[in-house]
Amino acid sequence: MRDTSPGRVAVVGPGALGCLLATTLCRIHEEIWVLDHDSQRAGLLQHSGLTLERGGCLAHFPVQVTADPQRIGPVTLVLLCVKSPALPHTLPALLPLLTENTLLLAWQNGIGHLPVLQEAELPCPVVLAVTSLGAHLVGPGRVRFGGEGATSLGFLGEVREEARAALEGVAGLFRRAGLEVRVEADILPQVWNKLLVNVGINALTALYNCENGGLLENDEALALLRAAVLEAAGVARAKGIAIAADPVARTIAVCRATAGNISSMLQDVRGKRQTEIEAINGAVLEEANRLGIPAPVNAQLVAAVKSLEKTSLSG
Ligand code: PAF
Repeated sequence: MRDTSPGRVAVVGPGALGCLLATTLCRIHEEIWVLDHDSQRAGLLQHSGLTLERGGCLAHFPVQVTADPQRIGPVTLVLLCVKSPALPHTLPALLPLLTENTLLLAWQNGIGHLPVLQEAELPCPVVLAVTSLGAHLVGPGRVRFGGEGATSLGFLGEVREEARAALEGVAGLFRRAGLEVRVEADILPQVWNKLLVNVGINALTALYNCENGGLLENDEALALLRAAVLEAAGVARAKGIAIAADPVARTIAVCRATAGNISSMLQDVRGKRQTEIEAINGAVLEEANRLGIPAPVNAQLVAAVKSLEKTSLSG
């Protein structure tokens, strides 16, 4: 029988979302580990802890941080918060943390992570986590809360009844920590609803080098946003995914609600990191090509962001 108590928790990747989730859980749960691939930063965070900036207040949390997964060992819950391009080399490093009784929650944007997780043959059930929580990393281990948002959780593939009970336990843990969480029988519509928003906002904010709200003040950007989202919505419908009505209006509403935010893709370009373009517009384009649906605007956005990324990574 699976133990449904939260037990030992490992947050993998101390980026913006990883630090936000770790600091949020630290308030109510003690056994939190953070795994960082960067041993120098892991040493720094082990020494100085994590800091959450929220509503003008600073809260400080000592946590156990390591770059060595063997030091953590088996855990009940893994929050996998690395970006999509890092998954192929991160997943094999997680094996010391995983048993058949672990739940692995994957928090990546886009849909590029789905086949990677499916093909990894992990020993534990995988849960897709779709969130609209806002977070901005302002320094190593220091995160600024960027806004409340709901989180949906649902399994990738079929699982046993015990795993479902364990996921309810995890949802309860998050709720006690103050998050709004829903467990979905079918998570794919939520994955695609968020994907459509990211398709419309992320690449364009990176290319126009503007905050999310800036897209609404630029006629050319707004026309591209509409076209990219409509192409991706056509792909979702052709796949039989029950996406929400009017994805363009939903994307514009998110632009408005997060007007002052720097999107994660623009943060990546400015930080000279690889972006999630392949997992977002690139993955839509791949699905469109497979289905024989034209997606010229997404193709244009992928090419433009890749060229921007090449310049930023070499600079
Ligand atoms: O990736 C992001 O930045 C966020 O998902 C969103 C919703 C576009 C807000 O900035």
